[in-house]
Amino acid sequence: MSESALYNTYARIPLSFERGEGSWLIQEDGTRYLDFAAGIAVNSLGHAHPHMVAALVGQAGRLWHISNLYEIPGQDRLGRRLCDASFADKAFFTNSGAEALECAIKTARRYHHAKGDENRFRILTFEGAFHGRTLATIAAGGQKKYIEGFGPKVEGFDQVPFGDLKATEAAITPETAAILVEPIQGEGGIRVLPNETLRGLRELCDKHGILLLLDEVQSGIGRTGRLFAHEWAGITPDVVAVAKGIGGGFPMGVCLATEDAASGMVPGVHGTTFGGNPLAMAVGNAVLDIVLEDGFLDKVSQKGLLLKQKLAALADTYPQVVEEVRGNGLMLGFKCKLPNLQVLGAMRDEKLLAVPAGENVLRLLPPLTISDEEIDDAVARMETAFQTLSENSSQGD
Ligand SMILES: Cc1ncc(COP(=O)(O)O)c(C=O)c1O
Repeated sequence: MSESALYNTYARIPLSFERGEGSWLIQEDGTRYLDFAAGIAVNSLGHAHPHMVAALVGQAGRLWHISNLYEIPGQDRLGRRLCDASFADKAFFTNSGAEALECAIKTARRYHHAKGDENRFRILTFEGAFHGRTLATIAAGGQKKYIEGFGPKVEGFDQVPFGDLKATEAAITPETAAILVEPIQGEGGIRVLPNETLRGLRELCDKHGILLLLDEVQSGIGRTGRLFAHEWAGITPDVVAVAKGIGGGFPMGVCLATEDAASGMVPGVHGTTFGGNPLAMAVGNAVLDIVLEDGFLDKVSQKGLLLKQKLAALADTYPQVVEEVRGNGLMLGFKCKLPNLQVLGAMRDEKLLAVPAGENVLRLLPPLTISDEEIDDAVARMETAFQTLSENSSQGD
């Protein structure tokens, strides 16, 4: 028997950290790592941001939890602010991304139920998608490695090739309730859905009377330089699932919807004990204070461009390591020529953290508050890592 008392579900890297400061993670002995993983696109304002800390500590001294039996003013406020800043009219708060997706899926099914069309319950999704680890969201993601061994796949999800409008239209049947898509696939390998494809999906949904559900769990809350990535395509979705960045490290998510899309979600049909509790709402409101400040999102765009340009230059210099640079804003990645975990290890040796993804990609997801100097620092560390990898691989020739 292994010594650990924990489930053996994670292939953890043997590293631990004692504290974080902005874009840095610091070990007990003082060793500093530059954090371009940000807890997998979660630490949107970096570590220990004073405004978030003050909001959390302030709330912790007043009230932690009361349940959704009562009014929660912070929930009303955060819901109102998210709706005012987006396409949405209604918000449902959750504890995680998968739960925000569960709410989105239930919202779509109840929408058709409320309109008297019980048969419309199927959701179209895309190959390479990742929507979470609950039984419904693994079925939605459609990836064998996550579905296998967990019994019958939850019914009602049909998958088509990523971004293929023709195949999508061909797959729509009288049972289809919605299309669900990530504007940028994160786990799938920073695969960007072109704006015209997203517009095409909107048109398909309108033509067939079905809902467009977006998974912006990773791409939302400023990550691409707009509050939501779909804004770049100029479309209005019906439902958007959000999590990760909205809590800046506090576990929370939210499902946003138009009034019409949410029309089937009436009292009693859905609920959660913890979702939207006062602690989470205090932090979520604090995150929005910063992200919605004038000029903040423009700065994210500028930094994203800067990093992407520098990555493109690195890709030119090290074609034996980097095959292609992908992504928008600060949701970037590069497809590796060498195994991505080998490249990740070499970057970690230079005290730079990133996240692996599908298609042999490494994701670069720094805090949105990253400075230009920290971007330069990260690129210099990558350069050293790529140099070492190149030398090692040429020695092996
Ligand atoms: C696009 C996307 N959807 C859903 C999820 C699931 O979120 P959670 O792990 O908070 O349940 C993730 C998590 O990585 C994600 O990246």
